[in-house]
Amino acid sequence: MKTTGGSDEEKRKAGESAAEEVEDGMVVGLGTGSTAAHAIRALGRRVDSGLDVRGIPTSFQSRELAKEVGVPLTDLDQVRQVHVAIDGADQFSGPHLVKGGGGAHAREKIVDSAADRLLVVADPSKSVKQLDHSVPVEVLPDARTTAAKEVRTLGGSASLRTAERKDGPVVTDNGNLLLDCDFGKIPNPADLAEDLAEIPGAVEHGLFVGMADEVHVGKEDGVNVKTF
Ligand code: A5P
Repeated sequence: MKTTGGSDEEKRKAGESAAEEVEDGMVVGLGTGSTAAHAIRALGRRVDSGLDVRGIPTSFQSRELAKEVGVPLTDLDQVRQVHVAIDGADQFSGPHLVKGGGGAHAREKIVDSAADRLLVVADPSKSVKQLDHSVPVEVLPDARTTAAKEVRTLGGSASLRTAERKDGPVVTDNGNLLLDCDFGKIPNPADLAEDLAEIPGAVEHGLFVGMADEVHVGKEDGVNVKTF
């Protein structure tokens, strides 16, 4: 499911650029994926040099990495404010994102929405004029067949995400299943987001409409930062 067209060097530059925006005393949402991982590692190095931050992980993966690199952790119940979140994307068009290639979009949406600012980190392969990436929908296990039918009535096709090193489906950190829903081009992400949210048994979908405040795009020769 992952669209990892860009180089690790481009991802590293994007992640490190966003991590530079974190200031002393901030609470930081820690996104999931290979690009956000670079930001978490950079934050760990800054913590070693004295930066005082607390991170809120969006997945098992980001929690483990944050622990490994020494970023102190907290959760949404313990804080009054999340100052910034740094997260990756499978595709972006302006401030609109498709996320969930790693199956973490439900928690990502909770944490990213709670943050005052969302900094998206990406390589250039994620940038498009119009979104057309398949949209992951996390569903309760009982809803997988009925939700797939609803996706068909919306003009899409849904396939159950299967695991690579386990027989059967991918099970999310929340114990649910994932439908990867292909709609072709998505001219109006807000309308589709509304329709997907109404599917009975759908826990969360991977369209993050208008959510990015900044996108940091790592390139071989630097970083482009777009602000929305
Ligand atoms: C996790 O579920 C996703 O939303 C990731 O943030 C997204 O897949 C980007 O991952 P990469 O940075 O590894 O491409």
